Amino acid sequence: MTKSIFITGASSGLGRHTAIHFAQQGWNVAATMRDPDRETELAAHERIRLFKLDVTDPVQARAAVHAAVDAFGDVEVVVNNAGVGSYGPLEFAEEDTIDWQFAVNVRGPINVIRAFLPHFRERKGGRFINISSFMGVTTAVPTGSLYNMSKFALEGLTEGLYYELKPFNIELHLVEPGGFKGNRFVEKVVFNTHPDIRDYDPLIRKVNALMKSADESLRDDPQWIVDEIDALATGRSDRFRTLVGKTSKDLMQMRASMPIEDYLATIAANFA
Ligand SMILES: NC(=O)c1ccc[n+]([C@@H]2O[C@H](COP(=O)([O-])OP(=O)(O)OC[C@H]3O[C@@H](n4cnc5c(N)ncnc54)[C@H](OP(=O)(O)O)[C@@H]3O)[C@@H](O)[C@H]2O)c1
Repeated sequence: MTKSIFITGASSGLGRHTAIHFAQQGWNVAATMRDPDRETELAAHERIRLFKLDVTDPVQARAAVHAAVDAFGDVEVVVNNAGVGSYGPLEFAEEDTIDWQFAVNVRGPINVIRAFLPHFRERKGGRFINISSFMGVTTAVPTGSLYNMSKFALEGLTEGLYYELKPFNIELHLVEPGGFKGNRFVEKVVFNTHPDIRDYDPLIRKVNALMKSADESLRDDPQWIVDEIDALATGRSDRFRTLVGKTSKDLMQMRASMPIEDYLATIAANFA
């Protein structure tokens, strides 16, 4: 029987790469997105079906899951990929931005997981692959605390759920990419600013310089991440956490090599 995969945030970036890859591998793909009416390339693929899903809406999540299971008869792998970022001093963040960061990156996966659990319990198994970030396992970018918060929360959710879903043969995995090419993440970042307060300007200038110096050509190939998702989806890998790319691996190695106080001071010194 043809295997089926459900992907959130398939309109661009990693979600889109993942949808095309699995379709090319012969899987049925439920490519979910907020505005499927605007999508033409994925819609034309015979193995891909589009479903409307804003992950922040639990009612839409249940409807999209039902529609995908109805369409394919069975779904065995779910990739919680949709994600957004807010940067800039926490002090300047709009109340709505704080809620949005949590709603998409944490409440979103919660909504999708909860919508899938009845199906996974009934079929006696399934796999959730949650796309986190190196910023879910360590801190490294000042003014990224809200994004860190959201991905650390996703990590806690995934690890905590492991115990409760293991008896049902339902697997949970985390993928931790560094920066990678071919996405629209940075252009959609909400940057928190204040019209009058200049106290954070020196730090912001250094963070911006760091971001710019991470030249696009030095960033990871998204196919590396897709290959790891493939390995998890097909059971060739059973890793709970998969770090992908040089940034993630280097930072985690550094973090593991020293006490947390030294790690924090070392990162802070880069921006002093
Ligand atoms: N880019 C990086 O360097 C990087 C590094 C580490 C981890 N990640 C993670 O990788 C994942 C994919 O990001 P990406 O880099 O591929 O960025 P991207 O190109 O901006 O893709 C993000 C996707 O999430 C969707 N999305 C946003 N809000 C949504 C909502 N409320 N409901 C449903 N979908 C929503 C976007 O859809 P719309 O088109 O509707 O906005 C888009 O399809 C994210 O979880 C991100 O945190 C990215």
